[in-house]
Amino acid sequence: MQSLVTFVVLATTFSFSNLSACTSVVITAFEVPAGDTVTISAASGASIEMTGSVSFAYTSATGPLWTFDTDDVTFTGKGYSFKGNGDLYWDGEGTGGGVAKPHPFVKFKGYGSFTDFIIKDSPAQAISVGTTGTSSFTDILVDNLDGAELGHNTDGFDVSASDVTFSGNKVYNQDDCIAINSGSNIVFENNYCSGGHGISIGSISSDKTVSAVTISGNTVVESMYGMRIKVDSDATDASVSDITYSGNTISANDKYGLLISQSYSEDFGTPGTGSIISDINFTGSKTTVTTSGDYPRVGVDCGKCTGTWNWSELVASGGDSSDIVLAGGAKISGGSY
Ligand SMILES: *[C@@H]1O[C@H](CO)[C@@H](O)[C@H](O)[C@H]1NC(C)=O
Ligand SMILES: *[C@@H]1O[C@H](CO)[C@@H](O)[C@H](O)[C@H]1NC(C)=O
Repeated sequence: MQSLVTFVVLATTFSFSNLSACTSVVITAFEVPAGDTVTISAASGASIEMTGSVSFAYTSATGPLWTFDTDDVTFTGKGYSFKGNGDLYWDGEGTGGGVAKPHPFVKFKGYGSFTDFIIKDSPAQAISVGTTGTSSFTDILVDNLDGAELGHNTDGFDVSASDVTFSGNKVYNQDDCIAINSGSNIVFENNYCSGGHGISIGSISSDKTVSAVTISGNTVVESMYGMRIKVDSDATDASVSDITYSGNTISANDKYGLLISQSYSEDFGTPGTGSIISDINFTGSKTTVTTSGDYPRVGVDCGKCTGTWNWSELVASGGDSSDIVLAGGAKISGGSY
């Protein structure tokens, strides 16, 4: 074990590292120096665990600062943290201005199970998921609570991957709790989101597809939006289909409780017709959506939406009355909104 530990530390100091024969990797406490990034590429089937937290010096390196790239991996953080020292970067401008902020902070390639670790204070986007096989992300805490004033674009999970389950995670941040940008067979269940922009599919750009997503049993509190499907207004050959919401408890403090829009980056505008949104259902057990802001509790801004949407298990309240524009022929059945 000891020599493997050494490999990991060396990986940060030199530009070479070779863990490709390692089936057991231990990550001890250390600091990643300025300018360096780390990639863990162990043998297929490897087990990786942490025995201490990893801290990152203020750096001008671009993200990801840490990459997991191992197939069939079993990773457990054992409750330890990746400390991004976001407060050294946060200036209220996010990735759109101000000081350069390395992002994403941690990237997942390869595939497997990833559990029980903490992301503490990511400079901007926390976790990028680009896995290539069946994967699960469980019992992860993204704690960007300290960015409440100056943290921006601190997305919890940004997902471009298929066959992934997210379960029992907690995200405290200032942007999307999860943003699903492409992929299919994705489950987001029993997670807790606080302070951010809620649970999002999108934003969807040209040639991207999201399908067969289940969003169930989640709780969203103190968030700008509750849940969104957002498709770029100029997107072509893009689609969002077969999305099922069940048993979620969602509260938005400011804007829409639920927003489905093909006008992104506007909430409501001139929706595009180069993409299709179909089969958006609220079924199974009841999903409650509330908003306390002066926005419609539910907004639907479709340029081209199709199918019959079963909203029988949606109960939305608060805010202003709902604003539903269903161009494209979609029909909504049931629900209270
Ligand atoms: C959504 O509801 C519609 C109408 O009930 C149904 O035809 C469709 O199969 C449902 N989609 C999913 C993914 O369950
Ligand atoms: C809509 O969903 C509800 C709850 O899951 C189900 O009982 C009902 O049969 C569905 N309606 C249609 C038209 O599929």
